[in-house]
Amino acid sequence: MFETEILEINEKSLEKARKYISEGLPVAFPTETVYGLGASAFNDDAIKKIFEAKGRPSDNPLIVHVDESYDVDKLVEVTYDYAYKLREAFTPGPLTMVYKSKGAVSKIATCGLDTVGIRIPGSEDARKFLKAVGAPIAAPSANISKHTSPVTARHVYDDMKGRIPLILDGGKCVGGIESTVLDVTTDTPTILRSGLVTAEMIKRVVGKCAYSTNKETDKVRAPGMKYTHYTPKCETALFKRDEIERAKNLYENYEKEGKIPYFMCDSEIEERLPVNANYLRLGKTAEEIASNLYYKLLEGEKVADIIVAFEVDTADEVGIGVMNRLTKACKRI
Ligand code: TXA
Ligand code: MG
Repeated sequence: MFETEILEINEKSLEKARKYISEGLPVAFPTETVYGLGASAFNDDAIKKIFEAKGRPSDNPLIVHVDESYDVDKLVEVTYDYAYKLREAFTPGPLTMVYKSKGAVSKIATCGLDTVGIRIPGSEDARKFLKAVGAPIAAPSANISKHTSPVTARHVYDDMKGRIPLILDGGKCVGGIESTVLDVTTDTPTILRSGLVTAEMIKRVVGKCAYSTNKETDKVRAPGMKYTHYTPKCETALFKRDEIERAKNLYENYEKEGKIPYFMCDSEIEERLPVNANYLRLGKTAEEIASNLYYKLLEGEKVADIIVAFEVDTADEVGIGVMNRLTKACKRI
């Protein structure tokens, strides 16, 4: 058991973070997407502690985070030259690139795969943390496995209290959903997990991009996608955008039972729902919606008996990333 501290990011707290990481203890830190739970990518025992703290299945590999100045080629082999172009275009930023590993990263982190996901975060706070610790950091999202990913230090605390010594507080994460995971070991770059860097953006730079089908055969390729994810602690129901009446009925039935329902939707859907209902408002644009999604789910689970959620538009490709999370977080009724 630890006394879990939440500290603002400054020289003193960064020094503490550096010390914990060098002692093999996990530290939570903010990025532009969600909070991560980090340990040295070369320290097997420290990485085991992350799997333990999260209750994470031991066959779901961790992403390795490095500072912009770090020479990624020490860790990975570039199989196709397009990877350099993508690195140039999108990093630092919310993109994880899966390369052939040179084997330096802990096998516990990569779960024995011959590939490794590398992410160069763009947020100032993540960069300060990585500079201070001075080593590649293996880090999953800082939630208990299967729960919604945290986007504030308080969310991390709610899950990790007593399990880790330190949470660096950088306020609310702007991106709000995890990085795009992109396999660059094949002829066509392939999205294993969608996010804020979209297929369209990738195509604009290298002319091609595919989505992983996540079929049985792809389980090894995208190990994380087979698990349930992101679920809040209250009941949930997910409706299509044209199922307003069904959703309203469910909402009203919960109210009649003396329970507290909340609608979670974008502003366009809200216009078609009663004015005096409870709302977890996601906003209007795809970026706003992504930024608010986990925040609203985690705030919602504290006040709602049920979150009555609506699908979002996927015309803007960022919506595909949001829908990927929504369908895992919320039950279809
Ligand atoms: O934005 C993010 O990516 C956040 C922040 C903290 O950086 N991290 C994050 O990590 O979301 P995590 O562990 O919650 O999700 C990592 C995903 C999992 O779906 C995992 O299966 C996949 O990346 N992944 C990691 N290494 C892989 C590899 N070598 N091959 C295929 N998928 C990999
Ligand atoms: Mg996660």
